[in-house]
Amino acid sequence: MCGIVGYVGRSAGRVNTEHNALDVVLEGLRRLEYRGYDSAGIAVVSDGAISSRKKSGKLSNLVAELEARPLPESLTGIGHTRWATHGGPTDQNAHPHLADGGKLALIHNGIIENFAELKLELLGKGVEFASETDTEVAAALLGDIYRNRLGGDAADGGLTRAMELACQRLEGAFTLLAVHAEQPDVVVAARRNSPLVVGLGEGENFLGSDVSGFIDYTRRAVELGQDQIVTITADSVEITDFYGAPAEGKEYHVNWDPASAEKGGFPSFMEKEIHDQPDAVLQTLLGRSDVHGKLTLDELRIDPALLKSVDKIIVLACGTSAYAGQVAKYAIEHWCRIPTEVELSHEFRYRDPIVDENTLIVSISQSGETMDTLMAVRYAKEQGAKTVSICNTNGSTIPRESDAVLYTHAGPEIAVASTKAFLAQITAAYLLGLYLAQLRGNKFQGEIKDILADLGKIPAKIQQILDNEEQIKELGRSMADAKSVLFLGRHVGFPVAMEGALKLKELAYIHAEGFAAGELKHGPIALIEEGQPVFVVVPSPRGRDSLHAKVVSNIQEVRARGAKTIVIAEEGDEAVKAYAEHVFYIPETPTLLAPLLSTVPLQIFALELASAKGYDVDQPRNLAKSVTVE
Ligand code: AGP
Repeated sequence: MCGIVGYVGRSAGRVNTEHNALDVVLEGLRRLEYRGYDSAGIAVVSDGAISSRKKSGKLSNLVAELEARPLPESLTGIGHTRWATHGGPTDQNAHPHLADGGKLALIHNGIIENFAELKLELLGKGVEFASETDTEVAAALLGDIYRNRLGGDAADGGLTRAMELACQRLEGAFTLLAVHAEQPDVVVAARRNSPLVVGLGEGENFLGSDVSGFIDYTRRAVELGQDQIVTITADSVEITDFYGAPAEGKEYHVNWDPASAEKGGFPSFMEKEIHDQPDAVLQTLLGRSDVHGKLTLDELRIDPALLKSVDKIIVLACGTSAYAGQVAKYAIEHWCRIPTEVELSHEFRYRDPIVDENTLIVSISQSGETMDTLMAVRYAKEQGAKTVSICNTNGSTIPRESDAVLYTHAGPEIAVASTKAFLAQITAAYLLGLYLAQLRGNKFQGEIKDILADLGKIPAKIQQILDNEEQIKELGRSMADAKSVLFLGRHVGFPVAMEGALKLKELAYIHAEGFAAGELKHGPIALIEEGQPVFVVVPSPRGRDSLHAKVVSNIQEVRARGAKTIVIAEEGDEAVKAYAEHVFYIPETPTLLAPLLSTVPLQIFALELASAKGYDVDQPRNLAKSVTVE
């Protein structure tokens, strides 16, 4: 949930340096700020001392502080943007935290679960604490081990050894980065249940919470495993376990270019990413089927025989990703006839779920670091289930700990509120469902080919909606004073309604609620009063079970009680006009694929309304892009 950057460079000559640690770390923090922005801080090693600055609030506050009180030139530095867990977002609680008489600086992402007992132990040794954080306890522990247990011997990699011994004491989730004044050419890092990747440069090396932290300098990355320590210098990267035994990382090429992580000319990452959606769906489909419509999910490294024996699927996810799972449920059950449950990750393992070797766990996560989902996946694996990760972040923890992964190729999603990853997740889940149907013979190859052909038309249909977005934008601006908005949907439109409500909550801080349209008369209709805005996601009139007629009735019910009805309907659907104050048409598409289209107007609406209120649509209050604490 925090952004972390580390850097060690080598002087290109006696005077000039390749890069100044301050510049590299600040650039990395700028790209990682979406991971948390309650405070920011930086520490550098220079002239035998640690120099650090830290400020609550956004990175810009730290930049101002650095302008007022510059740091010395340095080749070694660490930096941190924080999403507060222990202790409020204050200057004092900001990272880095110092120890060993100010000679050691530490930054941390995660939660040290046994910090209280460690703090008591250190207080008993006379250590004084300046903050409320678990991180300062970790820093003090590291400093105490370095100075008192190892005698501060820098000669044989004392900081690495101290980190090993400290990690043996720590419980919980942590990524730690440490620098020490007595070891000016080294950054030592450790990870357990929290993200960390290494960036490999020429005469310089990097550390980051994800590759955004160093993408401007190198695309060579090394993913680290669980319970590993990495010691970087300008010319070396050494990986060990928590007991000093050599360990291996896996090098890979980062295919994101710096530009694609920028705004591409849009006023916000959020708007850019909404407009990235045609490509996000296209890229996720690319290369996963042949001309005959045969799916080739070669990254799905699970024995086909096991997949054939699957008798239950449980989708594990949170937030928007859970709604993607709910959409996928309708398609997977329809195509594969496998009972499919969608579980909120944080609820899953506490309900004594029924999981065995015939259960297929499908986790859905944009970041691949959501702790709730990671813990749920681990629990399911302990029960013997096979696990597939649908994920948008290469090399992140959840796919690394899953039996197989189906990456969404939406590209970096920087805005905290998820959009393109959501459509890409649904697309990947459809591919998984079709693959299972193909493997188990539920669908003929021709049928699968037809569905893939329909999926192949989706990017252009999304673009068509985007090309006509001004109408929905105008509505968003006109409703900037709304106090409450309801969203109704049925069948696959129900999770879309939930997602539309979540977008409005996240971006505009307006109370919004999504309902199954059929549920209205069982209570929620009492909420309807004159002028109450109600969005209704209407299924295709070509659909089955007369769902369309039932939803049109729902519109009449709320309209009759004074609601202001805003309808998302399929092109040509004239039946809704009589009961809608506004109708936004989406291109005709098969019922199960409709969420890839009906979601888009709701995203645009929420974005525009929030922008009209002057809110920061990329970094909404109280939120972070990746929730890496339970
Ligand atoms: C999405 O708009 C939200 N920011 C949030 O609900 C998010 O989907 C959820 O936290 C799950 O994140 P993940 O996909 O990275 O696991």
